[in-house]
Amino acid sequence: MDNRPIGIMDSGVGGLTVAKALHDMYPKESIVFIGDSKRNPYGERTREEIADFGEELKAFLLARDVKMLIVGCNTISFNVRDNFTEGPVPVVKMSLDISFPKGVRKVGIFATPASIATHAHYDYLSKKFPEIHFTEVPCDGVAAAIEQKKEENLISSLVRKAVKEYHACDIDAGYWACTHYPLVPGAFEKALPHVPFIDPARPTVERAVEILRDRDALADKAGENRFYFTDCLENASPLVRSLFGPVVVEKTVL
Ligand code: DGL
Repeated sequence: MDNRPIGIMDSGVGGLTVAKALHDMYPKESIVFIGDSKRNPYGERTREEIADFGEELKAFLLARDVKMLIVGCNTISFNVRDNFTEGPVPVVKMSLDISFPKGVRKVGIFATPASIATHAHYDYLSKKFPEIHFTEVPCDGVAAAIEQKKEENLISSLVRKAVKEYHACDIDAGYWACTHYPLVPGAFEKALPHVPFIDPARPTVERAVEILRDRDALADKAGENRFYFTDCLENASPLVRSLFGPVVVEKTVL
């Protein structure tokens, strides 16, 4: 048993979708969350920058005595250096182990330009599901618009533009390969009515918990959840509180 918190990182509010899944599925696990809203979006930065920022977020969380790190961000997960998972605690990246509704033939992978540039999702899924056709849909500006709490219609029009540009109008399922996107299901529904979207938050949490269980490190009593952001508390705090109730939300520096 280990009642220390689990550290979760993201470039901003997106990782809250992973934190929320953890909180709903395993409420005894405490969370320390860091969102780098000041430097968001990561998805339009270079691989080098993203890897460096990931190291800073990791150091921030390790300094808070976490028992595990969850990278609640696809862009960081697939752009960090190979040695990122080394260190004193297990590091869990966003899971690629998702499944699709029966009969699905064409799937759109919706992600930031920096995630798509790695082709990590495409390479893994096209090997695992050779019968499905995958289309990569880099969504310019979508994570940033969600971070800045832009109107649903504007976000939807950005999604629609990407769908058109990358020939994804005829997909029969979508994959939210950016943790910001499940925060605005309505924007995706407007752009692609009736298309089901898969969110990898739960499989990511399941993987993390499996590792903790193997190490006999699950928590046996709920503790405090803390949320840190490097900027824009006015956007992040109401969202955090709507998801987690009256918790500590603080501005910090890395
Ligand atoms: N939430 C992040 C992800 O899962 C990306 C957002 C950003 O561009 O910073 O990819």
